[in-house]
Amino acid sequence: ENVSTIIAGEEIKFGKSIPVDSVQEIVRKDPENIPEIYLREMQGSVVPHLSLEIPVIDLSLLSEADEGELSRLDIACREWGFFQVINHGISPEVLQNLKSVVSKFFELPFEQKKKYSMATDDIQGYGQLYVVSEQQKLDWADVFALLIYPMKLRNMSYWPSELTSFAEAVEVYSMEANRVSKELISAISKLMGMEKDELWRIHNEVMQAMRVNYYPTCCNPDKVVGVSPHSDSSTLTVLLQDDEVTGLQVRHHGGWVPVKPIPNALVLNVGDALEVFSNGRYKSIEHRAMTNKSAPRISIASFICPQDNVELMPPDAGAHRRHRHKPKYKKIAYGEYLRSTMRRKLNGKSNIEL
Ligand code: SIN
Ligand code: FE2
Repeated sequence: ENVSTIIAGEEIKFGKSIPVDSVQEIVRKDPENIPEIYLREMQGSVVPHLSLEIPVIDLSLLSEADEGELSRLDIACREWGFFQVINHGISPEVLQNLKSVVSKFFELPFEQKKKYSMATDDIQGYGQLYVVSEQQKLDWADVFALLIYPMKLRNMSYWPSELTSFAEAVEVYSMEANRVSKELISAISKLMGMEKDELWRIHNEVMQAMRVNYYPTCCNPDKVVGVSPHSDSSTLTVLLQDDEVTGLQVRHHGGWVPVKPIPNALVLNVGDALEVFSNGRYKSIEHRAMTNKSAPRISIASFICPQDNVELMPPDAGAHRRHRHKPKYKKIAYGEYLRSTMRRKLNGKSNIEL
């Protein structure tokens, strides 16, 4: 049964999700307890490929239109779908301020966090996403999500008012994440044979959402998954991850490659929308997050997406375009696609191919 909500006068159907316990609370009450519904089989059977690393892109070189860096970006998007970005121009203080306000949020007593609980038909707030049946196995994480841009999508009742610097830290970082994405999307636009502003323009006012993932420690990390394997529905995702505590793993040639944090770097990944815009040249890649015994981990994902009414399809292939191919994907409005992914549990890569 789907429920509709009205945000800023627009009807947005997300489908009903089932509220579940806070994993942070389960662990706080009894660190040795893993309820049955979180237990997975054979997590240990997929040995991570420890010697490989995702590519590193230097944004300062890209903004100088360095041809070598541009071609490294092309390879990163084609062969990995994931890369870390250094020299992005976001000051360490801005990153630190955001990390610190979101940790403060998760350190609030449960009763206080509950004031910001996600409504069952919403995607903003504190809780869990992608829980669609009573039987499905659950992820070992709590989340806190907010819509950031356009401003009219913001629902300030979800913004924790007791944390005085929360709004400012989120605002400042989000603007910067938006700028970094815009620079990367310009470079990708050129790689796709278009003017540098064209791919961004096609988004018709970018929609940006932020999701904080909180992974408590787990007494038996081989038996649970922090976030089930999935691909992102976005165009690009900007991930700010912990500088020390690892957990993110990326699908590569059938194995899992752990992402080793570079302090103050950002992790970028290609989402489903970019896969379609590029007609499959760039692939949105499955990834997952694992947990550990010793330290909780926080990651902050900013999703850069087209507006709801934008048709997902490769931009019109004119004569001057480099890649003129038959579309490989079903044409679908982004909003419809997004909502169809939100109504499913996370389970591997979304099926967007024809
Ligand atoms: C995600 O992909 O949703 C989370 C990734 C992470 O925690 O590193
Ligand atoms: Fe993701």
